Amino acid sequence: MSRLRVAVLGASGRLGRFACELLDRDPDFEVVARASSRDDVSVVLRGARAEVVFESTAAGLGAAHARLALEAGARPLVATSGVTPEEVADLDAFARSRGLGGLYAPNLSRGMWLLQRMAEEAARHVSACEIVELHHDRKRDAPSGTAADTARRVRAARAAVDPASASRDVPIHSVRLPGLLAHQEVLFGSPGELLTLRHDALSAEAYGPGIRAGLRYVAAASGFRIGIGLAFEAPASP
Ligand SMILES: NC(=O)c1ccc[n+]([C@@H]2O[C@H](COP(=O)([O-])OP(=O)(O)OC[C@H]3O[C@@H](n4cnc5c(N)ncnc54)[C@H](OP(=O)(O)O)[C@@H]3O)[C@@H](O)[C@H]2O)c1
Repeated sequence: MSRLRVAVLGASGRLGRFACELLDRDPDFEVVARASSRDDVSVVLRGARAEVVFESTAAGLGAAHARLALEAGARPLVATSGVTPEEVADLDAFARSRGLGGLYAPNLSRGMWLLQRMAEEAARHVSACEIVELHHDRKRDAPSGTAADTARRVRAARAAVDPASASRDVPIHSVRLPGLLAHQEVLFGSPGELLTLRHDALSAEAYGPGIRAGLRYVAAASGFRIGIGLAFEAPASP
């Protein structure tokens, strides 16, 4: 079986370096391009003949880089924070018009995907919910894209059983401190009890299964969608 050709954007960053090391060790993948801020991304992508692109650069650049990947005929897995629902819809239309696919994964961790599923279940039964997200002090954006995604899922799950709750917010509290990596607590309060769901990403290894599953998923995907759960739930390729 031939190896999947991957271009890594943000290859000199923390997540990009981890992805390169992971994929270099994996016989199913071949890293054919490694780009950083000094490179012209469209030139790199046109020259690399990559089938898939792992994008982990800087908040706000994910959608533009995904479009450049699609223009180059490659399928993007975007890990960078800050791709909006409108941008996902635009990328979906563009990917479909070119017979390609891609995925925006605001969080690549399997544990976080499971936390969000549990939060959706809890939200069907307890409506008062707030989120605390805690990250290292180098993270510039707040609230985190993952916390915003959890809040969106909680609101949707709650509104499905109680349409009157649709306009109610799920407040997000952001903490930025040295010593932290990436952590999230989802608190559901009701009289006399508190349910806390908590996830801790302790090292970049938390993202390994999502990077591999996400790249395999986009290699066969049709259209551009959101959520690493699609990759974890996709049938394994033969
Ligand atoms: N989805 C997830 O599970 C997940 C997990 C962790 C992080 N993230 C997100 O992934 C992104 C990267 O995180 P990180 O911790 O690896 O950041 P980082 O260490 O700051 O690395 C950023 C990388 O992007 C490159 N870059 C910066 N500006 C660029 C530009 N204009 N064009 C092309 N490349 C550019 C940098 O190149 P230079 O070295 O040349 O500056 C570097 O390689 C962030 O948005 C972060 O929130 C997502």
